[in-house]
Amino acid sequence: MNAALDEAYRLLNASVMRYRGRPVGTIAASDPGGLAADNYRDCFIRDFMVSGLVFLADDNIEIVRNFLLASLEVTEREHDLPERTIHPSVMPASFRVDCDSDAGERLVGDFGERAIGRVAPVDSLLWWTLLLCATIQAYGDPTLAERDDVQRNLKRLLALCANDAFEVYPTLMVPDGSFMVDRRMGVYGHPLEIQSLLYGALRRALHYVEKTPENQRLIAVGEDRLRRLRDYLRRFYWLDLQRLGEIHRFPTEELGETGANAFNIHPESVPDWVTEWLPDEAGYLVGNLGPGRMDFRFFSQGNLLAILFGLATDQQAARIMSLIEARWPDLVGAMPLKLCYPALSGDAWRLLTGSDPKNTPWCYHNGGNWPVLLWTLVAAALKSGHRALAERAFALAAQRLPGDQWPEYYDGRRGRLIGRRANLHQTWSAAALILAHKLLEDPALLSLLPE
Ligand code: GLC
Repeated sequence: MNAALDEAYRLLNASVMRYRGRPVGTIAASDPGGLAADNYRDCFIRDFMVSGLVFLADDNIEIVRNFLLASLEVTEREHDLPERTIHPSVMPASFRVDCDSDAGERLVGDFGERAIGRVAPVDSLLWWTLLLCATIQAYGDPTLAERDDVQRNLKRLLALCANDAFEVYPTLMVPDGSFMVDRRMGVYGHPLEIQSLLYGALRRALHYVEKTPENQRLIAVGEDRLRRLRDYLRRFYWLDLQRLGEIHRFPTEELGETGANAFNIHPESVPDWVTEWLPDEAGYLVGNLGPGRMDFRFFSQGNLLAILFGLATDQQAARIMSLIEARWPDLVGAMPLKLCYPALSGDAWRLLTGSDPKNTPWCYHNGGNWPVLLWTLVAAALKSGHRALAERAFALAAQRLPGDQWPEYYDGRRGRLIGRRANLHQTWSAAALILAHKLLEDPALLSLLPE
């Protein structure tokens, strides 16, 4: 096991990206065969969250601070361009260091215009805020939060809640592929992962945004949104056998404010698999909810983050962990953890992914197993008092990842095969193993991501 951790560290350290001589991030993958797509040489904001937490736990604040400020610089430069039409609350999915013979090194961000799906990465600002607050928390030093550029970014997050939008729900509406699942996967609308991240990041941003008269309105709107988001998620996204029974017998076409079926979900839309699969004692937050639409798929990251940020109640957290325990072969199998369950297949795969050959059933985002999710699983398990489960998942990953050369993802119903197009030497797969180990050794590290 020490050998696995040593190797993970070697990989993490080798992935460090430098800008004008200083460390500013980690590249996504350093595939030894050079097969990784071009943008895996970038530092992704969501990927760096994992590296960043490892660096913080190791008291290496310099790289994390540089990363936070470098990604912010790229964002502010982009938003200052008069011809840009990018939404003011979008940070880049990733950035790289370009070398120009005249100007020297330059940071260049990808705001979705170079990535495969060409979608704005809505999660970047949310992950960035969480890492910023973890950094302040780790060093008990508020000066980072007091900087003007940092305050401007925190306000960009609050402004998301005050935006004019054609919305009646407290959840945030986003396009397909705007987070870790960055391709078409039927995750447009109100995907759980974005809502959990919004909840966690908004809560932290409210803590650190300056309480000036000028900010008063934004803060009030943010606080109201936070409360409504929490109540709404806990009530309407929650699914257990009792709720499933209610949905199965839902009345439809109700008008007014008091109906049982607020979203006009047609009972006929409940998929067969869920009725058989959902254990009596378990439950989870569904993947998406909107008018006439409940996506019953189980998305791991959104559920685990909901536990971590205290968005799920204690009882819901316990029942989500029960689900993972009871459905271990489906959700963990040979490698923690399935990104979503079950896979889309047949017409659903054709219509919702656009027949995406990378996302065929039980592959990649469509039901593949992602080692990076180990850290969120371990963190959520420790937070909810399921240490044995965390240890079991960790052991599986530690045993396999080094021999398999740290793949980005695994394919198959049980995650037994290295992903068909997975990069090897994927940085967040290695960083997640280190972070999971650190959390198991010292659960007090959970305080970096406080409720
Ligand atoms: C893929 C993943 C995305 C990740 C990126 C870099 O595009 O879908 O979530 O951030 O690779 O690892």
